[in-house]
Amino acid sequence: MDKLKVSLLGATGMVGQKMVKLLAKHPQLELVKVSASPSKVGKKYREAVRWIEPGDVSEEVADLPVVSTNYEDHKDVDVVLSALPNEIAESIELELVRKGKVVISNASPFRMDPDVPLINPEVNWEHLELLKHQKQRKGWEGLLVKNPNCTAAIISLPIKPLLDIFRNKKVIITTLQSVSGAGYNGVPYMSIEGNVIPYIKGEEDKIAKELTKLTGRVEDGKIVHESLDSSVTSTRVPTRVGHMAVINVIAGDEKINLNEIKERLKNFKSLPQIKKLPTAPERPIIVRDEEDRPQPILDVSNENGMAVTVGRLRHENGVLRMVVLGDNLVRGAAGITVLTLEVMKALGYV
Ligand SMILES: NC(=O)c1ccc[n+]([C@@H]2O[C@H](COP(=O)([O-])OP(=O)(O)OC[C@H]3O[C@@H](n4cnc5c(N)ncnc54)[C@H](OP(=O)(O)O)[C@@H]3O)[C@@H](O)[C@H]2O)c1
Repeated sequence: MDKLKVSLLGATGMVGQKMVKLLAKHPQLELVKVSASPSKVGKKYREAVRWIEPGDVSEEVADLPVVSTNYEDHKDVDVVLSALPNEIAESIELELVRKGKVVISNASPFRMDPDVPLINPEVNWEHLELLKHQKQRKGWEGLLVKNPNCTAAIISLPIKPLLDIFRNKKVIITTLQSVSGAGYNGVPYMSIEGNVIPYIKGEEDKIAKELTKLTGRVEDGKIVHESLDSSVTSTRVPTRVGHMAVINVIAGDEKINLNEIKERLKNFKSLPQIKKLPTAPERPIIVRDEEDRPQPILDVSNENGMAVTVGRLRHENGVLRMVVLGDNLVRGAAGITVLTLEVMKALGYV
């Protein structure tokens, strides 16, 4: 089978490095171009990157020359994956899409655009249907698909099989987000060592809004947002990888059967599992019954970082509670970019 040729913007960053690992020896995709900031252009990837993943840079990529983000450097690939910083992504990605490239991006601009699918594959692969109208509605030659915010990606997985319980309810979410969520140079050691920071700029609003789009449905070629009324408090904690969220659903008088909820979560499968896509976890949601799980050091790497782990499920005084944990770099970013591309390929969008 011919592999799709892929280029990667932001290939030297934290998310970019995860993607380099996921794409090495991929059965359907071949990473042929890597890009980083202008000062790195022309260097070999292994000289340009400060490699922080375990093991060495994969051989297939180590000697690739770093290219710019300009269209000319990517015109001969099938798909461009982007792990660019939010602040610079918009104009670079737009130029590529306007000139005909298919771009799947982790950066925040356009996530809430009604014509741009925001995809967490198991939750809402159906939203890719927007791509059938995107060129005409936007006047673009190519296609743009976005990944959600990392915490929204993790939280939306257990919400999906429980939508009938979350719908129209007040949901109170407190996140405990790891340092890697802010990028390699994002949080100074002095501000986080032995500390908790009870604020992450822009995060709370993004999570609440993106959850309504992710869990929405497609009707007449448009996304109808789900009515999820969530209030989010985001905190930064001194863990390396893994975002956790404490979720309280004000269920009121509704009868809640905890065993049924556990079964729905454990048994949740979607198109990526049915089609057995290479990056799809066998179990997207893992439920733990122990009173002290999930924990980042024990649970974050489940299913190669593609599963989320749910624990502390309780129903008390009309409140359904749970704790969710996921890998922000894999389920929250690199892994879903690659899985989204696998879904697009399986459905004939690329
Ligand atoms: N970290 C997470 O958990 C996470 C989760 C979900 C989504 N995201 C999103 O993913 C994206 C990347 O995040 P990250 O954590 O990987 O960031 P990062 O570690 O700071 O990496 C940024 C990447 O962009 C490149 N870059 C910076 N300025 C550039 C420029 N002017 N031109 C071209 N390339 C440039 C960097 O290259 P150099 O090495 O040359 O500087 C590096 O490869 C962001 O949009 C972020 O919001 C991150």
